[in-house]
Amino acid sequence: TAALIKKAQETLVANDLGGYTVPTHGLYPFQWNWDSAITALGWKHFDEPRAWQEIEVLFDGQWDNGMVPHILFHQDSTTYFPGPDIWGSDKRVKSTSISQPPVVATVMKDMLDTADDKAFALSKVESLFSSLVDYHLWWYKERDPLNTGLVVSYHPWESGMDNSPAWDEALHDVPCVDWEYERRDLGHVNSAQRPHKSEYDRFLFLVDFFKKHKFDSEVIFNECPYKVNDIGIISILHRGSKDILALGETLGIKDERLDIIAQRIALTESAINTLWCPEAEYFYCRNVLTDTLCKVRTSAGMLTVFAGLADAKQKDILNSKAKQWNEASQYCMASTHPEESRYEPQRYWRGPIWLHINWMIALGFEAEGYQQTADKLRNDCRALVDLSGYYEYFNPETGEGCGGKDFSWTAAIALHWLL
Ligand code: DGY
Repeated sequence: TAALIKKAQETLVANDLGGYTVPTHGLYPFQWNWDSAITALGWKHFDEPRAWQEIEVLFDGQWDNGMVPHILFHQDSTTYFPGPDIWGSDKRVKSTSISQPPVVATVMKDMLDTADDKAFALSKVESLFSSLVDYHLWWYKERDPLNTGLVVSYHPWESGMDNSPAWDEALHDVPCVDWEYERRDLGHVNSAQRPHKSEYDRFLFLVDFFKKHKFDSEVIFNECPYKVNDIGIISILHRGSKDILALGETLGIKDERLDIIAQRIALTESAINTLWCPEAEYFYCRNVLTDTLCKVRTSAGMLTVFAGLADAKQKDILNSKAKQWNEASQYCMASTHPEESRYEPQRYWRGPIWLHINWMIALGFEAEGYQQTADKLRNDCRALVDLSGYYEYFNPETGEGCGGKDFSWTAAIALHWLL
């Protein structure tokens, strides 16, 4: 264990570019939103000021409308595509024009609750709190302007689960980009572990679409050819909003914007069952443009327990399903259920295990009293890092490490949860 702790700390230090941590060198040479938040959880265990700095640098890239972008291009790099020129970034800190699952609120609450230096942590939360509230309000206002209770995502990259089978149909309806490009990811990672060209063609069409419409939120909301209610984003946002209210209480902050967040929380709670499929007894994503549920079981549906969105009966059902799911492969939890026809054990978000997702799922089950399920997830994650080290993701059949190696969020989750 001591050697693994040392290695995890060294991984974060080696990926530190001065105030922010790259997920891994080469493949992802910038600051990613949810990677950074998760990585701060790792820094917290050996350098609290550095953990808070990670969050501060992330918010330094916040747009005036409140959005915290999915990638901040703090410096140039030739090892990544598509870079800031393709995105058409016109901000002080160059960035993409979409966001990523807002796990940062939950991370900040954890960092305050467990801080060694409470006064320092409190001062950091105080100075970041207003920006954090703006970020959540951005999600609600811009991604759910009709007050349905369920925000939409405009891009698979926004979900962080890029090529999840949950949006195969929705993505298929997006046109392909009509210019040639050279992918850089395939220079770092075996193509069998990455998305297909047919997906990249559509990812890039959407990037062009946002640029063409000058990031105008109204036009994009009305015309975007891809709109998905992603159960992962919805759950992480919901949990984060509740954590914001708790932080507000701790800080004794009275702010009308917190009332809006409370209203949005209630709205989501009243809408969530439209994503519950009674036949399958599972939470799915919805293609908003065709109003159809994407009926493939991905682990994102389990995040409803972490969010507190599943009711008592649903929690029991999800726990039984998790048990069966976890038995269906050597290691758990596969990001797509191993019995789905679309399951691919080594292709990015179509089957591999991601440690930060397991951590959130386990946290949810543990808090609700399903300790066995939480323990199984944790034990398997520990076995994976013992076997393969700090890879980006893992093959659930063999435990083989896939994608980028010496990966920040995997090392961070090891420090935070496993070691
Ligand atoms: C990539 O480039 O693969 C990233 O997942 C985009 O966020």
